[in-house]
Amino acid sequence: MALRRFDIEAGGDSFAFKAETEPTIDFWLGKYPADKKRSAVIPLLWLAQKDNGGWLSEPAMRNVADRLEMPYIRVYEVATFYTMFRMQPVGKHHIQLCGTTPCMLRGANDLKSVCEKKIGKKMAVTDDGRLSWEEVECLGACVNAPMVQINDYYYEDLTPGTLEEILGKLQNGVDVPPGTFVDRLNSAPEGGATSLKEETLYDGSRSSSKALPNLPEAKTDEAPAAEAKGEPDRKPPTNVDREEPKKDEVAASKETTDTQDSGEAKLEGVRPAAVEPSEGEADDLKRISGIGPKNEDQLNSLGITTFAQIADWTSDNVKWVEGYLSFRGRIGREDWVGQAKTLAGGEETDFSKRVDAGDVASSREEGED
Ligand code: FES
Repeated sequence: MALRRFDIEAGGDSFAFKAETEPTIDFWLGKYPADKKRSAVIPLLWLAQKDNGGWLSEPAMRNVADRLEMPYIRVYEVATFYTMFRMQPVGKHHIQLCGTTPCMLRGANDLKSVCEKKIGKKMAVTDDGRLSWEEVECLGACVNAPMVQINDYYYEDLTPGTLEEILGKLQNGVDVPPGTFVDRLNSAPEGGATSLKEETLYDGSRSSSKALPNLPEAKTDEAPAAEAKGEPDRKPPTNVDREEPKKDEVAASKETTDTQDSGEAKLEGVRPAAVEPSEGEADDLKRISGIGPKNEDQLNSLGITTFAQIADWTSDNVKWVEGYLSFRGRIGREDWVGQAKTLAGGEETDFSKRVDAGDVASSREEGED
């Protein structure tokens, strides 16, 4: 482990917890017997770091030691051991860039170059005080590598371009919602499911009862009645009276359940108006960055088939569709409306050019190479 020194100068002479933090401190102290209150050292250091602008000054550590009646050296030992505690000032948005093997293999070194270009050396703070960065070990989100943590949140599936955009926005005071930056839900495959896609796996049509070979004949009072119904002789007794639904009944009941379960009524915002496109009028919505084949199908099923419709969405429409697709903050972040305006006006975006050139795998039609 690298030697970690306090920044004595930057820490000043004093530190005080914010008044609103005191109830949280009491909460943590209340977890331990009075003579074991030093057990709360890590949570209290964490709260001190938050109240001190993201790093621990020496007076902050002394404050924690005094509260817990610990020798100062014991608190210094804990704080300098765990790298989640920072010993020098950081920017308002502190970036922890994962450089461990999975992230490194997926391009973390290119992300490092972006940080060096936009921010400077590790742990340097930009002149406006907004950004700083450091490299850390695995943050446990390898499946969405490469990724960074900014303050308390994860930003995943990054490219140098997306990271540069995020840093630019944060520097300009614009919030950037966390999460994945490709067309996938959490850690599901990009562009939607790639396996287990057969509808019959889920529509109930495979849930017929099967007669097991070599099963001893059921000798119950109900057996003659079963035979009278023309059912097979050999079958598990528990399924004797079960009637198979007809295929169209399955479909009808699925439709009803889908509507009931969709929870559309609970979604915030306003559902965008549906339009029935005339022949050949539907646009290829996959030319919008962030919309893959699966999302396009979902939008089409809502009656959204053209760029012009998306270009007209209000913020309430965006909120509703984000809720419907479980895309918290993504539509705004990816600026679907802006992209749709450009495309509806007959112009191209960088992304639509890449789609047209066949460079975007998730935007190609199934079967297309
Ligand atoms: S290697 Fe980067 S999150 Fe695990």
